Amino acid sequence: MFLFKLLAWVSICLFQMHGYKGCLETERTALLEIKRFFIAVSDIEYEDEILTSWVDDEMSDCCGWEQVECVNATTRRVNQLSLDGIKLTRRFRSGFLNLSMFLPFQELESLDLSDNYFGGVHENEGICELKNLFELNLGGNKFEGHLPRCLNNLTHLKVLDISSNKLSGILPSVIANLTSLEYLALYDNKFKGRLFSFCSLANLSKLEVFQLSMETDLLQVETENCLPTFQLKVLSLPNCNLGVIPNFLLHQFNLKYLDLSHNKLAGNFPTWLLENNTKLEVLYLINNSFSRFQLTSAQHGLLSLDISRNSFSGKLPQNMGIVLPKLVYMNISKNSFEGNIPSSIGKMQGLRLLDVSSNNFAGELSQSPVTNCFSLEWLELSNNNFDGQIFPNYMNLTQLLLLYLDNNHFSGKIKDGLLRSTELMVLDISNNRLSGHIPSWMGNFSNLYILSMSKNLLEGNIPVQFNNLASLQILDISENNLSGSMISTLNLSSVEHLYLQNNALGGSIPNTFFRGSALETLDLRDNYFSGRIPHQINEHSNLRALLLRGNYLQGPIPHQLCQLRQLSIMDLSHNRLNGSIPACITNLLFWKVGNESLYGLGKGISDLGADVAEMRNYYNSTVELFLDRIHLRSLDEQVEVNFMTKNRYESYKGVILEYMAGLDLSSNELTGDIPSEIGDLQNIHGLNLSHNFLSGSIPESFSNLKMIESLDLSHNKLNGQIPPQLTELHSLSKFDVSYNNLSGPIPDKEQFSTFDESSYRGNLHLCGPPINKSCTNLPELLETSSKGAEDESAVDMVAFYWSFVASCVTVMLGLLAILWNSRDPSNQIAEELNYLSNKSA
Ligand SMILES: *[C@@H]1O[C@H](CO)[C@@H](O)[C@H](O)[C@H]1NC(C)=O
Ligand SMILES: *[C@@H]1O[C@H](CO)[C@@H](O)[C@H](O)[C@H]1NC(C)=O
Ligand SMILES: *[C@@H]1O[C@H](CO)[C@@H](O)[C@H](O)[C@H]1NC(C)=O
Ligand SMILES: *[C@@H]1O[C@H](CO)[C@@H](O)[C@H](O)[C@H]1NC(C)=O
Ligand SMILES: *[C@@H]1O[C@H](CO)[C@@H](O)[C@H](O)[C@H]1NC(C)=O
Ligand SMILES: *[C@@H]1O[C@H](CO)[C@@H](O)[C@H](O)[C@H]1NC(C)=O
Ligand SMILES: *[C@@H]1O[C@H](CO)[C@@H](O)[C@H](O)[C@H]1NC(C)=O
Ligand SMILES: *[C@@H]1O[C@H](CO)[C@@H](O)[C@H](O)[C@H]1NC(C)=O
Ligand SMILES: *[C@@H]1O[C@H](CO)[C@@H](O)[C@H](O)[C@H]1NC(C)=O
Ligand SMILES: *[C@@H]1O[C@H](CO)[C@@H](O)[C@H](O)[C@H]1NC(C)=O
Ligand SMILES: *[C@@H]1O[C@H](CO)[C@@H](O)[C@H](O)[C@H]1NC(C)=O
Ligand SMILES: *[C@@H]1O[C@H](CO)[C@@H](O)[C@H](O)[C@H]1NC(C)=O
Repeated sequence: MFLFKLLAWVSICLFQMHGYKGCLETERTALLEIKRFFIAVSDIEYEDEILTSWVDDEMSDCCGWEQVECVNATTRRVNQLSLDGIKLTRRFRSGFLNLSMFLPFQELESLDLSDNYFGGVHENEGICELKNLFELNLGGNKFEGHLPRCLNNLTHLKVLDISSNKLSGILPSVIANLTSLEYLALYDNKFKGRLFSFCSLANLSKLEVFQLSMETDLLQVETENCLPTFQLKVLSLPNCNLGVIPNFLLHQFNLKYLDLSHNKLAGNFPTWLLENNTKLEVLYLINNSFSRFQLTSAQHGLLSLDISRNSFSGKLPQNMGIVLPKLVYMNISKNSFEGNIPSSIGKMQGLRLLDVSSNNFAGELSQSPVTNCFSLEWLELSNNNFDGQIFPNYMNLTQLLLLYLDNNHFSGKIKDGLLRSTELMVLDISNNRLSGHIPSWMGNFSNLYILSMSKNLLEGNIPVQFNNLASLQILDISENNLSGSMISTLNLSSVEHLYLQNNALGGSIPNTFFRGSALETLDLRDNYFSGRIPHQINEHSNLRALLLRGNYLQGPIPHQLCQLRQLSIMDLSHNRLNGSIPACITNLLFWKVGNESLYGLGKGISDLGADVAEMRNYYNSTVELFLDRIHLRSLDEQVEVNFMTKNRYESYKGVILEYMAGLDLSSNELTGDIPSEIGDLQNIHGLNLSHNFLSGSIPESFSNLKMIESLDLSHNKLNGQIPPQLTELHSLSKFDVSYNNLSGPIPDKEQFSTFDESSYRGNLHLCGPPINKSCTNLPELLETSSKGAEDESAVDMVAFYWSFVASCVTVMLGLLAILWNSRDPSNQIAEELNYLSNKSA
């Protein structure tokens, strides 16, 4: 310790000798106060959790602290404070921001307080005295109302980012005088009910970046004729309910980046935008109603074009590849384009992503010019009318990472190894007319992560070379004509989701499926598997869905299945299983306590190794724009499980799948009592034990199945009463106990008043509504009490309804969050521009 202090002292002396000065004491003290403030408004237990280097020690030079910059070595004044995301990862605790804390920093030029969830700003602040401020970033907080009027005193302000807050005031009038502004980000706020006029920005002659988006379409961006003095480089106006392209754009000629997506724009593709703006690099017109696509013959250096989700029809211009030779990203999906892809597309030698899916394109892949776009990494031809063979010639697409050819008319055999990309991560050739055997060379795609070949006419076995696919996580060969017994040497050790349903596979189910721990979904439904269900179960198995329906499996349900602690969906129906239902089923933890990791999604791989945009200084320099970050569709979005509830197959995906829990043992030869332990499976949504030989009574414990929506016990030998406690199952919407030996009164409260006679038929001794047999010996008292309960039930139904709505909303929000984060390019760019503004200084 002593030695340390001595060293520190010596080094300070050495610095002093070289004219070194520490930072100003007032600024050091002020920084420490800021740290104390952050600790006070966050949920931080230990001071060390944030701003660790900010220590209360006179010998510590605050210019060396993290997030602090002092540019001038002589004055040692703090110029830049980057306090973004300090509270981000911590539990939100609202806190008002006291901007007076920053007053001691007289030379402060750049202040970044973004992503801190501040609820607002204390009035009377004096921030406006920080006359030198040229960057102020308050984005990603929770500010409401208006920003302080005195902001218009900050006449040096070049960068103002107040995006992603809850502001609703009349911002432009505060901003109109900030004539130094270059960068103005207002998107993702709650401005509504007012017309926004570009003319109010007309005097901001230095403005280069303007970003706005609307939460609702109540706000309309007024586009009357006024001549702004600025020449923008970046204009982003997604979702602004424009209706027409703003007039002032006729007079812009410096645009590099233009996003007019989601604006109900119609008519012809605005070629004049390209003509006027020769430096345009990015043009997004997603989700409008443009109908005619045309280009002039003048070459243009556009890098990124997204005109997906419009009403374009007809052929692509023949000269497209000649006019736009530099395109890196081209998305024209979800239109009605037809005909062949013009051969000039092959001239796009820098093209890395091409998505022409969901159009009416036709032609053979062998003739297709896309095979000449050597730099393609992502090629999506799904949902068109392409035909012929896949991989017909030598395809020189060595960079290809993702290839989607699904939902076309490709036919014939998968020809031998002609696709020379060893990097391929996703291959989807599903829903075509491919026939023949699966070629063994497909085992050479050693980086393959998703392989989907479902809905074809493929036959034979799964090649053992698939064992080489060491990265494979999703393998879908369902709905083909695969046959033979599954060889036990097949060891798909990395596969998490295996779909082999609807084939003609036979033999016994390989033990290997249950030995590893990777597998989460195993779907072998509707095949010819026979023998027993393997009982060598790995305790660390992660199996979540086990679907063996419609095979010829025999013998008892092995009690070892109870070791599958993650199991949430099990369908063993339509087999020949006998013996009793194992009582240990209650060990299946998931069904009892639910899944904690509801939002633990997003384990998809997000980086493609593609150049992540070096967006810093994009608008303010000659730096070239790189491709937007490409996100692979998240794994969970692809995972789908079908499960029968309420007599129809439902498909469960993503977040919904995490909620789903169901057990189907119907149409077997099971005997004995229903174990009362099944009542412990509190998260179960569907339970089907019908068409067996089960006897005994319906366990009263079923009244604990609070989430159950569908309960089918029909076609068994159950006797005794229907437990009146079952009326506590408020979610129940399908109930079937027909064809048993049940007796006594039918419950008619709550949900039970909605079930009709068909739920009960075939039971000789049941009585009461809805069947035509009255319980004659029933005391009057009971009837009145059940009447009285009807009002109660009405109230309960309302409560149930609201809880249902609430859970739906939660699920929807989760989905939206995922979709929004992963798919919306305008959001990506917003994020990236936000990143840019954080860094520019
Ligand atoms: C540092 O500040 C001093 C005093 O204000 C000034 O004279 C000098 O030019 C500044 N140096 C730089 C590099 O800005
Ligand atoms: C804001 O900070 C200043 C300076 O630290 C202090 O004097 C003032 O009391 C604070 N105001 C509020 C409302 O906390
Ligand atoms: C800041 O602007 C307001 C008007 O919005 C004005 O009253 C005030 O005097 C200005 N303050 C300074 C320090 O210039
Ligand atoms: C802008 O500045 C002018 C004069 O400098 C002043 O008269 C006007 O009130 C200011 N506008 C706003 C909205 O602050
Ligand atoms: C722009 O400046 C002109 C001349 O100074 C002034 O007349 C006009 O009102 C200003 N417009 C806005 C929107 O501030
Ligand atoms: C942009 O194009 C429009 C329509 O062709 C034209 O009227 C306008 O003068 C052009 N503006 C510039 C700056 O070239
Ligand atoms: C398309 O844009 C409209 C607004 O014009 C918006 O309401 C809708 O949600 C958008 N659709 C998609 C899929 O983004
Ligand atoms: C192309 O655009 C569509 C519709 O906007 C979108 O769903 C799709 O994800 C985009 N394709 C790629 C590869 O990003
Ligand atoms: C494949 O592409 C490379 C450039 O990526 C080129 O050099 C080579 O000649 C091409 N080969 C064929 C057979 O087209
Ligand atoms: C697949 O890999 C094997 C072994 O590395 C090699 O011999 C064979 O030529 C490859 N096949 C193709 C079509 O690339
Ligand atoms: C499936 O394969 C069998 C032979 O294994 C064959 O007889 C049958 O015709 C095939 N079915 C289809 C639809 O191709
Ligand atoms: C943009 O670049 C110019 C010249 O390099 C510089 O003066 C200006 O401060 C930069 N703007 C921002 C917001 O960084």
